[in-house]
Amino acid sequence: MTTIESLLKEERRFEPSAAFTAAAHLSGGAAYDELYRRSLEDPESFWSERARADLLWSKPFEQVLDWRPPHARWFLGGQLNASANCLDKHLSGPRRNKAALIWEGEPGEIRTYTYLQLHREVCKAANALAALGVEKGDRVAIYMPMIPEIVVAMLACARLGAAHTVVFGGFSAEALRDRILDAQAKLVITADGGFRRGAALPLKPAVDAACEQAPCVQNVLVVRRCGNPVSWVAGRDHWWQEVVERALPVRPATAVDSEHLLFTLYTSGTTGKPKGIVHTTAGYLLYTQMTSRYVFDLKDEDVYWCTADCGWITGHSYIVYGPLQCGATVLLYEGTPNTPHPGRFWEMIGRHRVTVFYTAPTAIRTFVKWGDEHPLRFDLSSLRLLGTVGEPINPEAWMWYHRLIGKERCPIVDTWWQTETGGILISPLPGVTATKPGSATKPFFGIEPEVVNEKGEACAADHGGLLVIKRPWPGMLRTVYNDDQRYRETYFGRFPTMYFTGDGARRDKDGYFWILGRVDDVMNVSGHRLSTMEIESALVSHEAVAEAAVVGRPDALTGQAITAFVTLHSKEPKLDSMREALKAHVAKEIGAFARPAEIRFAEALPKTRSGKIMRRLLRDIAAGQQTVGDTTTLEDLSVLARLREDED
Ligand code: PRX
Repeated sequence: MTTIESLLKEERRFEPSAAFTAAAHLSGGAAYDELYRRSLEDPESFWSERARADLLWSKPFEQVLDWRPPHARWFLGGQLNASANCLDKHLSGPRRNKAALIWEGEPGEIRTYTYLQLHREVCKAANALAALGVEKGDRVAIYMPMIPEIVVAMLACARLGAAHTVVFGGFSAEALRDRILDAQAKLVITADGGFRRGAALPLKPAVDAACEQAPCVQNVLVVRRCGNPVSWVAGRDHWWQEVVERALPVRPATAVDSEHLLFTLYTSGTTGKPKGIVHTTAGYLLYTQMTSRYVFDLKDEDVYWCTADCGWITGHSYIVYGPLQCGATVLLYEGTPNTPHPGRFWEMIGRHRVTVFYTAPTAIRTFVKWGDEHPLRFDLSSLRLLGTVGEPINPEAWMWYHRLIGKERCPIVDTWWQTETGGILISPLPGVTATKPGSATKPFFGIEPEVVNEKGEACAADHGGLLVIKRPWPGMLRTVYNDDQRYRETYFGRFPTMYFTGDGARRDKDGYFWILGRVDDVMNVSGHRLSTMEIESALVSHEAVAEAAVVGRPDALTGQAITAFVTLHSKEPKLDSMREALKAHVAKEIGAFARPAEIRFAEALPKTRSGKIMRRLLRDIAAGQQTVGDTTTLEDLSVLARLREDED
């Protein structure tokens, strides 16, 4: 019972090319080993050197780390500003007139902001916010589409020392209200709408409904994006185009303490109430900057595209704070990947000559399903590095990404991290690490992960267990907003000095980490603990399968039995013989005991808006129960109804 069985064996290895290695920020295993060793042996000098060199300080720090488990404070005594580190820092050199943001709207318009122009916009927005009463220490909620103003809004808050709480534009009015209330946000920044699938998707009605029940909100700032009609509360609502446009484009950055709140970001936990993850200024900035530089190997010539939404941690860390601190050119896209055609992403990569592309496995599997003809139609020759994030990538999707998108030339960085970790903790470094499809590979500098059993003892190589991080790092969450008790219990309740990730993992004989998925998604079948992801991966490796989600359902004989929800490629008929073939396929890939008891064909799988399959709902359906609990993050409720209809 103490280990998670890990059965998938992947033997392929891909070394970085000599050309990539020669030009990379960090090259070769020896360089990594040496720096990694230093980062663990003498962390204080490692981090303090980096913090001095890489951050722009208004006042230098005096103490590197104060670690009183479970609370860490970094770079004490220092003062700085996050927007100055993203923008002002670049204005004295050649990056002044370099593109910071290139934005493409879904209808096709393109806008570019140089570092100087972005700086001016951020100063104007900060002045407008200040005129509306926002002060250092206040919280501002942001509920916007993927338009340049969302980046401006985040950095304008940071410039004033106010914290932002970005709420993904797909959340409901209720979810928005709960987050506004928990953060006690004084002001909300939104837009009339954003373009999705060719139409204006309104945002203002949800803000209006949320604010009705959130008396803390004094002002609402609205970007006119789509021109659709909006209702208006006189005195409370203000057009961005009026108040920001007439504000002065100069505003000194407010210096804040290193541990000053930079933002809260809400994420689902095991209870129905989302947690406000707290990130503070200096440590978060340093960690996102360093990981951006080394994991994405960012250079001045790069055009970097992360397809995440700014409403998620990936957007915070790897669209805004990390890449802008590095002085990168960041591509931003408003819309969906299949508007007006399923090759939109590949067309954009060709148009903007994107060099580094970072997306989610769920997106990659969707592209696989849409067919090879779409990427094959466009010029992807500018790409030099690919990344994935958010969930385990099954080796078959990895291989497709490698062949069809990377043309067997681009390293793939499979980056493991969480909202709570602030930045990437386990990932290949592209000029260093030989990759193995499906493995996030090795820890970043200063990160000491371990796979442990329930007693906290290290597991032997190739034995599955719980993934923990044994020491603090600068980018880690500091607490849960308004709920330090929940912070203590969730992350340090099991092991008092080790951060508990909630994920299962194994480390192989080469020291590579393989993430097995959330431990709450682990099943126990006939005394064997099995990772849902491994069975899914096996299913997806079958040529007929587009996507699969596996859950355990109660079974009188075996404890749990495996139910697999499977979507087939469009032309495949849903036959009983296919069910049997898939069961046999899993048995062949993993072992007879991993054979699913039941295969259910589905048109689509229920997902959160960030693309994660909602296994909790599938477990209920598999068990024949009514769905209970929070479904505010469900992408498409009709999927659930259809899954029920598909029941035999
Ligand atoms: O289970 C892990 C999975 O996503 C979880 C974190 O989700 P969230 O806080 O929404 O952040 C997603 C973006 C960083 C983790 O506990 N996860 C994330 N990246 C990977 C992953 N699982 C496997 N491989 C990854 N590369």
